Amino acid sequence: MPFLKWVGGKRQLMTEIEPLLPTRISTYYEPFVGGGAVFLHTQPKKAVINDYNSELINVYETIRDNVDALIAHLAIHENNSEYFYQIRALDRREGFNELSKVERASRVIYLNKTCFNGLYRVNSSGEFNTPFGRYKNPNIINETVLRAVSNYLQKNDIKLLNGDYQDALKNIRKGSFVYFDPPYDPVSKSSNFTGYVQGGFDDKEQERLRDTCVKLNEKGINFLLSNSATELMKDLYSHKDFQIIEVGATRHINSVGSKRGEVKEILVRNYG
Ligand SMILES: C[S@@+](CC[C@H](N)C(=O)[O-])C[C@H]1O[C@@H](n2cnc3c(N)ncnc32)[C@H](O)[C@@H]1O
Repeated sequence: MPFLKWVGGKRQLMTEIEPLLPTRISTYYEPFVGGGAVFLHTQPKKAVINDYNSELINVYETIRDNVDALIAHLAIHENNSEYFYQIRALDRREGFNELSKVERASRVIYLNKTCFNGLYRVNSSGEFNTPFGRYKNPNIINETVLRAVSNYLQKNDIKLLNGDYQDALKNIRKGSFVYFDPPYDPVSKSSNFTGYVQGGFDDKEQERLRDTCVKLNEKGINFLLSNSATELMKDLYSHKDFQIIEVGATRHINSVGSKRGEVKEILVRNYG
């Protein structure tokens, strides 16, 4: 029951991911949680969830702590381009940090539901820059889903963190399981989309993540990772303990419309 459309959202891959998850997990980790499709589908009782995007983590916190105020605030939004660009521009103005947590969460949900393809993209200054999506009836207030997610986050042992994935994994113990859904290695450098956060996620970052997986493997911790089926990825994850499974996934979002369609992805895991 995802409450956001998120680039690389795992809704279509869910049927392929689900049977590959371990059956016994003490703590579920998702250090690149994004829209949290796998997390919210699996609904573990104990989890550590992280993302580098502070506006996104604030949405999770606000849904957990203040869902009534959030639902009420979402009702003020208008679906027209002038209003959209006014709300989008708030992070370019002084005083953005003085907005309340509810106002900031409401802004992210509104922009996500009304912007082009639900793309959360920022420019090099960290400002949201996706254009207006011109949808007739965007579902801005999905009250049932927001309340269900709020209830789930309150009733279970879910830690929400906002930082780099490596920090989120610092105190991980044996018996835990990690699902990594990092920004993907671009299939063609021209269709490159790495703009979730300032700085992007380049080949060096993919290598750092592989090194993290090798370390987890040495500690005896199970992980599953998704990425695009590029030569770089197949090469980085060729390791005697790693199994690479190729799956076909239709990407929701591609910056070049004509290149949409079937894009092969890989799932890598270190357990059988
Ligand atoms: C592919 S998306 C995750 C999609 C998500 N699993 C879903 O189903 O919607 C990747 C996420 O990684 C986050 N990210 C990028 N660099 C990061 C880093 N160094 N540490 C933690 N998160 C990072 C981005 O903000 C983005 O939300």
